[in-house]
Amino acid sequence: MNKKIAVLPGDGIGPEIVAESVKVLKAVESRFNHKFEYIYGEIGAAAIDDCGEPYPEETHKLCMESDAILFGAIGDPKYDNNPAAKVRPEQGLLKMRKSLGLYANIRPVEIYTKLIDRSPLKESVVKDVDLVVVRELTGGIYFGEPRGRSEDGRRAYDTSLYSDVEIERISRIAFIMARKRKGLVTLVDKANVLATSRLWREVVSNLHKSEYSDVQLDCLFVDNAAMQLVTDPGRFDVILTENMFGDILSDQASVLTGSIGLLPSSSIGTHTPLFEPIHGSFPQGAGKNIANPIATILSAAMLLEGAFDLNAEASAIRKGCEDAINNGILTPELVKEAKAYTTSDIGDYVAEYIAKN
Ligand code: IPM
Ligand code: MN
Repeated sequence: MNKKIAVLPGDGIGPEIVAESVKVLKAVESRFNHKFEYIYGEIGAAAIDDCGEPYPEETHKLCMESDAILFGAIGDPKYDNNPAAKVRPEQGLLKMRKSLGLYANIRPVEIYTKLIDRSPLKESVVKDVDLVVVRELTGGIYFGEPRGRSEDGRRAYDTSLYSDVEIERISRIAFIMARKRKGLVTLVDKANVLATSRLWREVVSNLHKSEYSDVQLDCLFVDNAAMQLVTDPGRFDVILTENMFGDILSDQASVLTGSIGLLPSSSIGTHTPLFEPIHGSFPQGAGKNIANPIATILSAAMLLEGAFDLNAEASAIRKGCEDAINNGILTPELVKEAKAYTTSDIGDYVAEYIAKN
């Protein structure tokens, strides 16, 4: 199979983890006889430094012309500590999601038995975790207008906005996914307070009744959901939620596994699908070869499966990652007493596993 992949390493540890993911994709090419073309593009702080734009037109063009996008991370402390900055790296990621119409962000959370003692929660609480967060990605308070400051600068406002169409299209993805899993969708909202959440409940319940009544639908307020994610995370299957709640809950859910460095994600919608780790740019770790590349390597697996329908290839990557984990080939954040491995050691290990199996 011949395919074109846009590679956007981004900021912080982005270039290092993406390099390992590309290494693994190259191993897949040789082992399974495919030809992938990798074209690199700029995004985030790196792009601002270069041309003043966090998502340059050239990068957008590259994304539109590619079959899939592999993305690393975005963010730089020099902007985090400067609330007055006019252009911010994060705007690049948001603009990319919006311009490509990537309205559905899929974030699966799985526990590795071998790492269960690394979870901050008791084994009895996390052992049955197998959930996926389906986060709406192009609407809500992230994008609603108007937003800004009052003239005197003393008041600021954001607008949360959702239409029935935006809610319905992502809900379909959640229901269809639940059919292939444990058959349960949990809608997370704040319908006791927010008008947007009441619309979510109405649209999701109607769609459930008319087309997906074979799937079970639960509705939970977000504060309660946050609590249940730490007291009884095994109760969840598919969590369907809006942009902001999904951002927060997916970080929370990710650490149940013991490290935020293990979880991949895919973003799908109108144009080219995007695959990225759910973690950030970890600037303190940049250039040190210590970041965990597993989340980005597993994002490549999601890419092969989701964008190219290459299931055996995706499964080979997943098995390689599992094998690394089971054999203690781990980066420092997951290691207690034993030797820690580097970012590139992990990539080498998974690439070699694929070549040999
Ligand atoms: C994520 C990130 C982004 C978000 C930031 C970097 C804009 O936290 O992908 O979860 O909030 O969506
Ligand atoms: Mn986030």
